[in-house]
Amino acid sequence: MKIIIVLVLLGSTAKADIYLHNPRGSNNRLDEAGRERNNANRLFDSQNNDRGGYNVGNLYYYAGSKLMIEWTNQHSCMNPKSHCEIVLQYMCSSMVRDGSTTSTIPDNPTQCTDYDCNTDLRYGMHENYDYYKNCRSRQRNTGLFTADQKLKADRARFTRQNPTGTRRGYECPEERDYYPYWHPTPWRDIAVMTNDATKCDYYLTESENVKGRWFCDIPRETLANSKNIEIPNNKDDCDAFRYPKNDVNGVKGTWKQAPSHSLEAPVCIENQFSRDNHLGNGLGGYPLNFNWTVPDLPHPSCALRIRYNVSTADYEAWDDVDASNNKGNHQNAAGLDVTKRQGFATRPEGEQRGYIFKNNPQVQLFKDAGKLKLQLAINTAQFGRTFQDRSHVFSIEKAPGYLNDKVVQNVNVRGKRGNIVQVYPAVEYDFIPNTLELMVDQYVHFQWTGSNTNPQNNDGQGRAGTDRSNVVLQRAQIYPEGSGVAYVVNEKHGHWGRSYPEMVRNTTLLDLSQEDIINLATLRNRQFGGEMSELDDAGTYYDLGPRKVTKAGVYHYLSTRNNNFSNRSQKGRIIVTVAEIKESNIGWNGGNVTLKEGSNVYIGRGAFERRVSLRLERWDREEGIERMQTDATKAPDDNFISDFYQLSPEGVLVVEGKNVDMEFRVQPGSFDDVAVYRTTSRGSTWTKIDANVDNGFAKFQTSEGGVFVAIGYTRAGVIAGAVIGALIGVALIAVATFFYSRKNPQSFSGFKRTFAGRV
Ligand SMILES: *[C@@H]1O[C@H](CO)[C@@H](O)[C@H](O)[C@H]1NC(C)=O
Ligand SMILES: *[C@@H]1O[C@H](CO)[C@@H](O)[C@H](O)[C@H]1NC(C)=O
Ligand SMILES: *[C@@H]1O[C@H](CO)[C@@H](O)[C@H](O)[C@H]1NC(C)=O
Ligand SMILES: *[C@@H]1O[C@H](CO)[C@@H](O)[C@H](O)[C@H]1NC(C)=O
Ligand SMILES: *[C@@H]1O[C@H](CO)[C@@H](O)[C@H](O)[C@H]1NC(C)=O
Ligand SMILES: *[C@@H]1O[C@H](CO)[C@@H](O)[C@H](O)[C@H]1NC(C)=O
Repeated sequence: MKIIIVLVLLGSTAKADIYLHNPRGSNNRLDEAGRERNNANRLFDSQNNDRGGYNVGNLYYYAGSKLMIEWTNQHSCMNPKSHCEIVLQYMCSSMVRDGSTTSTIPDNPTQCTDYDCNTDLRYGMHENYDYYKNCRSRQRNTGLFTADQKLKADRARFTRQNPTGTRRGYECPEERDYYPYWHPTPWRDIAVMTNDATKCDYYLTESENVKGRWFCDIPRETLANSKNIEIPNNKDDCDAFRYPKNDVNGVKGTWKQAPSHSLEAPVCIENQFSRDNHLGNGLGGYPLNFNWTVPDLPHPSCALRIRYNVSTADYEAWDDVDASNNKGNHQNAAGLDVTKRQGFATRPEGEQRGYIFKNNPQVQLFKDAGKLKLQLAINTAQFGRTFQDRSHVFSIEKAPGYLNDKVVQNVNVRGKRGNIVQVYPAVEYDFIPNTLELMVDQYVHFQWTGSNTNPQNNDGQGRAGTDRSNVVLQRAQIYPEGSGVAYVVNEKHGHWGRSYPEMVRNTTLLDLSQEDIINLATLRNRQFGGEMSELDDAGTYYDLGPRKVTKAGVYHYLSTRNNNFSNRSQKGRIIVTVAEIKESNIGWNGGNVTLKEGSNVYIGRGAFERRVSLRLERWDREEGIERMQTDATKAPDDNFISDFYQLSPEGVLVVEGKNVDMEFRVQPGSFDDVAVYRTTSRGSTWTKIDANVDNGFAKFQTSEGGVFVAIGYTRAGVIAGAVIGALIGVALIAVATFFYSRKNPQSFSGFKRTFAGRV
């Protein structure tokens, strides 16, 4: 008897794969009251579970503002279990709309009002009709690897993943499955995240943002009036094109280059780590996310798109595999050879044992164990597969003049009504970003939306089926916590652990006006004036508008309606600092972190072996002294000729033999010598680093993060150094007792000895 054990190599039949949570991903949902979406083909091909998606998500974002894009993906990224690419894009067009019916927009103009589906507002639409029609009639790229899938025709609507050419909205299946795509598209690239950062050069130069796309231009009337036309996808066929076919006087095609989108190249960086079979948090306890600076291209109707592409490691999907590996191809009737990597002496030997690239092959693992074969769950249409989600329509608005050059951070509400099981694979409510750091004088923009048609039996407070949120400061901490923080940077307002709000009259939430505080709590500027204890009579949409934060502090807030201790929580935190802070994700490709006042950390290509969230903080002299005095260092303030700079993470950052370049401003003045010292925020050891002073900047190299400060010496200072040194410990004594003869600070760079000691 044959025993079959199914090994699931890839969750290819389980449909649950990428879900956009902020901005809310539709997953093709419109406003369905059921748990499942009505129509998986409405706008695009997600290949996700029917339960995913949010009903409503229309917000506006100011040009230049920061928006945290958050998602969950199921089959891992930055993880050897799959090769993963995440592509973030957006498009704007006056025709982009959510529509008012869950039916798919028709493919036949006679089914649309005025015979024009582009303008039939009942139907949701992203890409437009002409775009799809062109794709439907266009030659497909026959150089692509299609495995043993039988594509119905050689047109761009048939692909390995969609061999029958199922239509979803007006999306072009070939474009959906391949990136960067070779034909013009309306999609502007935001970011590409990859497991292989060496691919970034390719993405950055091939992005349609910076590079135009060639196409065969055929007059619209010809396309409109002719059936079964085949639009060439290459120059030769385009030059030879005639309509009617073979009619020398027929309509011609013109091979043309459509201009690029004329935008900056997208961000390209390593993916964040995520595990497989998991739709939750990545490392660090938050879902995967990307902070997007909303472009300065205002438009009333835009849509955001995220694609998630997982490729197997069973063959070199990116390098070796193309049409010559297709089954039935005249060069290779047997298809892709998967025996190569298995160590079989010959291909036939491997294939006899079942190592064949086809659906659900049965492999004979043990030569001697009778006829036992194990079946592998392989689907060649999905072995290497792309998932997708898209937002509802949002708008980009021109920022008013007073926001020019200001940092504006969007704070929104993600999630939907229900308990964790009822909402899955969507998420429960949360503020996003959940913890936000802002500097004094930056802006926060509270805004959210929701639905009135969630499933009626989903748990939650207030009227069944409805989403509402509000923001109130939590009450202060009652009991002590932890062992005490060395330096209390900011006054703390409210505490995560409290379910009671602070009394309004004492609230200093972000130092907002009393009116704003009441609005955020009661949605007073958005309600219809009825029963409001659970905000039922407010609208689903709320907007406070951008507000300047003026008072440093740590503010903890919650939503009184949705927070339900021991069942669900909706709490957020905003940390307002005086110190200047800049964070940047930098990977193998390198990059810069630059503060406004000119200090800069520069990481060359190859210095980092993985993606690092690098953070540079500037504490002014007084704050730096205060912070560092909390340990034993007791550094003297009269020698410091710069602010303090903290580069985190504080440990070793680079691969062996590499450094990062750092520079920061030093006080003007004539010093006989200048030195940079490094310590850590909790350390008591100061290490001297060779530095160069140039143009008012101390420049040096370091392999580690830490706290850095410059010290200037004059000869008098050097002589008096013994006295100061007694205060500051061995390291600085060593420096101070050293005799400096050089007058020119630049020459100090030649000084090679380092001094370190414990205080
Ligand atoms: C997905 O990966 C395959 C390689 O497996 C590549 O050919 C394709 O262009 C990628 N598509 C997207 C949308 O990233
Ligand atoms: C995006 O910004 C938020 C809020 O400032 C921060 O917590 C988060 O770490 C940032 N994400 C990334 C990937 O840098
Ligand atoms: C808190 O949540 C539980 C579980 O969903 C629910 O039974 C209870 O009614 C909620 N509390 C309020 C005040 O609605
Ligand atoms: C709270 O408000 C009351 C009334 O305005 C005031 O008397 C009291 O001092 C305030 N308390 C704090 C801690 O600010
Ligand atoms: C949490 O939910 C349970 C029922 O699931 C309910 O009995 C309890 O009262 C809820 N807690 C609160 C604070 O409402
Ligand atoms: C980073 O900074 C260095 C030195 O200031 C500069 O030469 C370089 O162009 C910067 N690179 C980027 C990507 O900003």
